Order: sequence, then C-alpha cells, then structure tokens
Amino acid sequence: MYASLIRPERYGPPIGAFRTEVVDVPPVGPGQVLIKVMAAGVNYNNVWASLGDPVDVIAARQKRGAVEDFHIGGSDASGIVWAVGEGVRLKPGDEIVLLASIWDESAEDIRLGADPCTSSTQSVWGYEENYGSFAQFAVVDEYQCHPKPKRLSWAQAACYMATAATAYRQLFGWEPHTVRPGDAVLIWGGAGGLGCMAIQMVRQRGGIPIAVVSSDERGEYCVELGAKGYINRRDFDHWGRLPDTSDDEAMARWLKGARAFGRRFWEVLGERRAPRIVLEHSGADTIPTSMYLCDNAGMVVICGGTTGYNGDVDLRFLWMRQKRLQGSHVSNAREAREVTTMIDQGLLDPCLSLTLGFEEIGKAHQLIHDNQHPAGNMAILVNAKA
Ligand SMILES: NC(=O)c1ccc[n+]([C@@H]2O[C@H](COP(=O)([O-])OP(=O)(O)OC[C@H]3O[C@@H](n4cnc5c(N)ncnc54)[C@H](OP(=O)(O)O)[C@@H]3O)[C@@H](O)[C@H]2O)c1
Repeated sequence: MYASLIRPERYGPPIGAFRTEVVDVPPVGPGQVLIKVMAAGVNYNNVWASLGDPVDVIAARQKRGAVEDFHIGGSDASGIVWAVGEGVRLKPGDEIVLLASIWDESAEDIRLGADPCTSSTQSVWGYEENYGSFAQFAVVDEYQCHPKPKRLSWAQAACYMATAATAYRQLFGWEPHTVRPGDAVLIWGGAGGLGCMAIQMVRQRGGIPIAVVSSDERGEYCVELGAKGYINRRDFDHWGRLPDTSDDEAMARWLKGARAFGRRFWEVLGERRAPRIVLEHSGADTIPTSMYLCDNAGMVVICGGTTGYNGDVDLRFLWMRQKRLQGSHVSNAREAREVTTMIDQGLLDPCLSLTLGFEEIGKAHQLIHDNQHPAGNMAILVNAKA
C-alpha cells in the first residue's frame, strides 16, 4: 500500500518529515478490522511525531519490541471495513469513523472497572501506535469504530473525532465540573481544532463560551460558532512562566497583566463573573492565567501543552479558592459515540476548513506547526476522490 511515512532521519519540520513510500499492508488479528481509509484527519500529535519531540515515537515503539523503523501517523479517519479478524461483528462494506484512543480490553484495571481511557494500557493510534490513517489501509481494534454520520462527506467525517471527543470529555467528563446552563467557559485557541468544537458544545448545554484567539478574524469565526465574544491574546504580554512568588516586583507586574486579562473577560461576558471552567491545552504560556482567572471552586481542565510543559501554579490561589486542575486525555468509546451522534443529528458542525491531497500531508502539519492553519479542522483525501 501507499503510505506517508516519517523516518528518524527525516525528523524535523513537518514539511520535510513525511514522504510517500510503499509498505506491506499490516496483518489483521483477532478483534481487529482492516479499514480502507477514505479520508484522514490532521491533528497536532503528528506535528510532534514529525519533530521526534517530546517523544521519539519510533524509538519508543522499538523499545517495546516493534520492528518497524518508520511511523505512519494519522489519528482520525473515515473509511470502509475491508476485512475483519476473528470475533468481529462489523461487516466488510460498513462505513465507519474512528476514535484513536486504544487500550487492552483484557487489562486488569479495565476488568476491575476502570474507564478504559485511564487504563495503564491506553495509548493513541496513529501517534504512539503505528499504522495510522495516512495510508491506503489501516488496522484498528473493532471498538475504535463508530458509524459514519451519513450526512457527512468522507473528508468531513474524517476531520472531527480526535478534537471533538477530547473537548467533550474535558467539558462533560469531570463531574461535578460539567458545563451547566449559565456557566461561563473560557476556551483557549477558540478557532483551533479543540476550540471550535468546545464553543459549540458549551452553547448546546446553555453555557456561555468565551474564546481566546490571536486575531480578530479568528475571533469573528468563534462568534459565528456561538461564542459570546472573544479576547485577542495579542493585546496582553504577561504570557510565559510565573515569576518566582517571592519576587514581589515581578509578581506585581504579572498580576497587573493577569488582572487586565480578567477585566477583559468581564467586559466580554457583560458581568463581573469568572469562568467556572477553563478549557486548556496551550500549557506553559497560559496556565498561570487560567488558574488565576478560574472561579472559586471551578476547574481548569487541560489536555495538552503546546507552548511547554511547565505548569506554574500559585498554590495560594489553588487552595484558598478551592480550584481544581484536571488532566484529560482523548476519550472513551461512549464519549466518542455521543459526539458522533451529535454530529449525525446536526447539533455539531465538524468545522472542516481545508481539504488537501495525499501528497500534502507534510504541508498540512507545517501549517499547524506555524499556527498558520485556517480556523477549524483539516482533512486529507486518501482513497476518496472528493
Ligand atoms: N490529549 C489529547 O487527547 C489531545 C487531543 C487533541 C489535542 N491535544 C493537544 O491540544 C493542543 C491543541 O490542539 P488543537 O487540535 O486544538 O490545535 P490547533 O488547531 O492548532 O489549535 C490550537 C490553538 O492554540 C492557540 N495557540 C497557539 N499558541 C498559543 C499561545 N502561545 N497561547 C495561547 N494560545 C495559543 C492557537 O490559537 P490562536 O493563535 O488563535 O490563539 C491555535 O489555534 C495540541 O498541543 C494538541 O497536541 C491533545
């Protein structure tokens, strides 16, 4: 099959990391499904895979016994069931979309009742695991498959799952901090993959989404999706790690910036109320502000660290105001099915912004790397013509 491969000798900016090569179609084991990939989604994780940082995914797999010296990325797909392994109920010809979160269904923690997404065996297909959707065929576990929403094109169906299911778990997976009617919710990167989904979901539940963006054009996109308004982060400059808390002068400077950002939040919301939930993924640059701004007894829920992994928290605000900092990662199968049902019913738009050809996989990831990608989600045509 044709596949877009990353090899260690090409680690670096995505534009040069991917190359089309011919490799064997992987074998299909019990409980597995061979998918003819029609379209693939584009996610930030394969920017990280291209860079070989923070994880060298090929070396990490080889350490666990894998023999392949290449990576086939792609954690989102729409496709057709082509062949099935032993014990599989899906039939050749079924049209499906995929969730990238995988686990060992026989793992002890899952058998003892853990959410599979929190299992010690959980990993991400098309990133930590090989043979993702940037190839003509992909092998997946049956539980990863969900019915393709009929109203969507192949490209639309391929573009949403990783971001939508992740945002869904962030917003509705962490009781009692789930979005309630009237809750103000701050959403970083509102025009990005997670953000465009989160804005729509918060609106659905009667919450008030407020987006953070880096341009007015992106802000207007968020308002069209349902945001009450937006904050342009370029108007502020207190980003980055928190100063040492014993440095009074530097802390006073930082607080001035954070308070100004908070006042802007009130202006956009139209009242002096803090966000009950903050949807985080930008990481080191923004987490101090998120933790400061979050309401008393509210939650900052984080699924990434685009700008770095040092999450500086002024612990005084954490305990005195009884806030919660919650990690969240992809989703379980139920959450993915609920998101797909919402998309199928037309309650959520998959926000497909740009569809590219198979030879443009590197270009798509370079756009994300450079934060030059269009608002929403992108897709790659694999076997589909349009
Ligand atoms: N753990 C998981 O399951 C999971 C799932 C999906 C994504 N993620 C992670 O979450 C992150 C975002 O993913 P995505 O798909 O939403 O990516 P995306 O489409 O690129 O959106 C991210 C947004 O972050 C904003 N941003 C960039 N630099 C920023 C900065 N310095 N400060 C504040 N905001 C900044 C950008 O918006 P503006 O420039 O307009 O502000 C951008 O649109 C990535 O790190 C990804 O790996 C994790």
